[in-house]
Amino acid sequence: MTQELDDNWKPLRDAAVAALNRAHAPYSKFRVGAALEATDGRLFIGCNVENASYPVTMCAERVALGSAVAAGAVEFRRLFLCADSDDPAPPCGMCRQALAEFSPDLNILSEGMSGARVEWRLSELLPAMFRLDPPQPEGLAQ
Ligand code: THU
Repeated sequence: MTQELDDNWKPLRDAAVAALNRAHAPYSKFRVGAALEATDGRLFIGCNVENASYPVTMCAERVALGSAVAAGAVEFRRLFLCADSDDPAPPCGMCRQALAEFSPDLNILSEGMSGARVEWRLSELLPAMFRLDPPQPEGLAQ
């Protein structure tokens, strides 16, 4: 059953749906739209951008993230996702790691074409994110 969407998610949903409609997905025909809300309230959108050389493809979430970081936003509150699947699609593993670099507790709401929605915390989808301590000049500790 589809529940009414909380009003405070509606601007994110509208932005994500608009982005999905601009997706470049001629190969998979699977469009994805993302709206990422920074803690300062700014909204950044992304869609998947596919390429004839398949691995060059960029996911919607990382397109939104790149645009946010380039604008100086590095802390995020919420992500709305929509995709061409009936069921709500979770972010792929690479996007989980990319988002967790900035906001491991991000609140994610995903909606499928059926109207069904699922909500996750990023920390629940990626409980053991990879972190890198910059190597020390002396090398590894003895
Ligand atoms: N895709 C996304 O945009 N985000 C994800 O989290 C998973 C997959 C895109 C990439 C590709 O264009 C299409 O979905 C099929 O994999």
